[in-house]
Amino acid sequence: MFKADTLEGRVAFITGGASGIGMEIAEMYGRLGATVMLASRNQERLDAAVSIMAGQGIKVAATRTDVRDYDDVKSAIDKTVKQFGALDILVNNAAGNFHCPTAELSPNGWRTVIDIDLNGTFYGCHAAYEHLKRSSFGGSIISIITMLGVSGWPGAAHAAAAKSGILALSRTLAVEWGEDNIRVNTISPGPIGDTEGVRRMYQETGREELERKKTALGHLGRKADIANAAVYLASDLASYVTGENMVVDGGRWLKYVAA
Ligand code: HXC
Ligand code: NAP
Repeated sequence: MFKADTLEGRVAFITGGASGIGMEIAEMYGRLGATVMLASRNQERLDAAVSIMAGQGIKVAATRTDVRDYDDVKSAIDKTVKQFGALDILVNNAAGNFHCPTAELSPNGWRTVIDIDLNGTFYGCHAAYEHLKRSSFGGSIISIITMLGVSGWPGAAHAAAAKSGILALSRTLAVEWGEDNIRVNTISPGPIGDTEGVRRMYQETGREELERKKTALGHLGRKADIANAAVYLASDLASYVTGENMVVDGGRWLKYVAA
């Protein structure tokens, strides 16, 4: 367990923070003292998430944002700083994905996922930069990717390309922005139970049992496993960690290479 004040005083902007892994990160950040701004498209989902978190005593707000639109992202981030006085943590978690063999993938299908995942992450980093530079804690950017972006991902070329692009972007920014006291890291979750990702990529395609067996630990992860990693990377515990890709996948990647 982290100490209750691990993220006290920090302000976090979390894309896709009203569902799944992003919401788990937001709730855990909030319980550990951070103020959280949730940013995504669906207003009803944002309202429901704010109501749940506010009910737990979390300092939380939401802003309807489409990460494919730079001006939208910039105004949401600027609004966050205006409302809460600073920006210390950016979590690029928003993503779109669907299973589709590449020969059947339309150019617009490709562009849609690249726009949400890769361009959306760039827009967030770019719009947050000046604020993160001024963070009294040192800025922290965390982007959620997957090792399937490194191995290749049959049936999801768009997401594979986007996620490996985010890895390259993050490593580049870790070096460019290190002297601005901004740390830039990624997290690569394995298959996480009770998520939209597993539902559409593994359950709908009949691969859930296969994917479970592919992990060294033999079971799917929990959303809290990813949130724990995101707390660590955002906190002072990781003050000398940048350019890192933290793999939290129950040994799926290692088993892929070793077995
Ligand atoms: C083929 C598809 C498709 C499908 C959409 N398209 N779904 N093509 N198979 N199943 C095509 C459409 O035909 C269209 O191309 C283009 O993609 C854009 O579709 P829209 O529906 O207009 O896009 P939009 O409304 O912007 O929605 C974006 C979306 C949607 C990505 C398609 O699914 C979404 O909003 N997803 C957000 C939630 C999500 O995906 N969560 C999972 C993240 S999990 P044409 O050519 O017809 O115009 C993840 C990793 C999981 O990222 C890790 C492993 C477990
Ligand atoms: P999820 O609940 O569907 O999360 C995706 C979020 O992104 C949603 O809240 C969605 O909200 C938001 N979003 C999508 N398009 C957006 C846009 N254009 N602008 C703003 N927000 C947008 O899925 P999840 O499974 O928790 O996935 C979360 C992250 O973990 C993703 O980056 C995913 O790639 C990664 N990941 C997941 C797994 C897994 O096992 N689930 C494994 C590896 C990596 P709206 O629709 O309301 O906009």
